[in-house]
Amino acid sequence: MNIALSCKDIVVEFDGFRAVDGVDLELARGEVHFLIGPNGAGKTTLVDAVTGLAKYTGSVVKDGEELRGRKVHHIARKGIGRTFQTATVFEALTVAQNLDIAAGAGRSPWTLLRRRRHLPPHVRATMERIGLGDRADTPAGALAHGQKQWLEIGMLLVGDADVLLLDEPIAGMGHDERETTGRLLHDIAADRAVAVVEHDMDFMRAFASRVTVLHAGAVLASGSVDEVSGDPRVQEVYLGTAKEPADAATA
Ligand SMILES: Nc1ncnc2c1ncn2[C@@H]1O[C@H](COP(=O)(O)OP(=O)(O)OP(=O)(O)O)[C@@H](O)[C@H]1O
Ligand SMILES: [Mg+2]
Repeated sequence: MNIALSCKDIVVEFDGFRAVDGVDLELARGEVHFLIGPNGAGKTTLVDAVTGLAKYTGSVVKDGEELRGRKVHHIARKGIGRTFQTATVFEALTVAQNLDIAAGAGRSPWTLLRRRRHLPPHVRATMERIGLGDRADTPAGALAHGQKQWLEIGMLLVGDADVLLLDEPIAGMGHDERETTGRLLHDIAADRAVAVVEHDMDFMRAFASRVTVLHAGAVLASGSVDEVSGDPRVQEVYLGTAKEPADAATA
């Protein structure tokens, strides 16, 4: 396995409450790694820790560098990108401008905001790749919900992220959009590590290369889809005390 990111013994505490309680996680290039678990399991908090938004103890290593204690922008520059449960595109700017800005760290804001006659080729190619090739001049605010998620993923791609942490990317999408998203995730995972926080079990079964189940801040199980779905402890969490994952998708 080509490990892109290695997390060891991650603990995040809020006033003594352990939202993440000793998680080990390895993300490999070439894999779409699903992080599942009931509401409150600590999935988003784990992503927050890795991306520098939540304080933690333990270790996060990428390309030999320890990232604990590093600033958010440093971690982003190291190629770790994430999306949020609600989209964070610039609504008033066009699809092309959003991508151009994400691609343009280092250029002046004025250059970035001026409409350019020609987009850089890699920005144009990414726009095609995320299915928005004919939407270059559409304001991001006018995109459908699913298209905004694709735009966000595109913004991470043009920013050269090679570890992508996507927090519930298909929430609110219809069937066809989910299929398109699943294929996109596998396409971009070819030479990157992609982690997907998700509640939708059908989507997970269809597109996961590997699954880690979090429960009460800790890893309950990890392995292939079959290994994890056959694990009695996982069944207990999903069929016993926990909320049904299908309901949780709207949370
Ligand atoms: N800033 C915070 N302060 C205090 N408690 C928090 C904070 N952020 C999260 N928590 C708590 O930590 C636990 C884990 O929350 P988290 O958002 O990581 O869960 P999740 O697995 O992403 O859930 P969901 O599937 O609902 O998005 C929850 O009990 C939550 O209430
Ligand atoms: Mg969450």
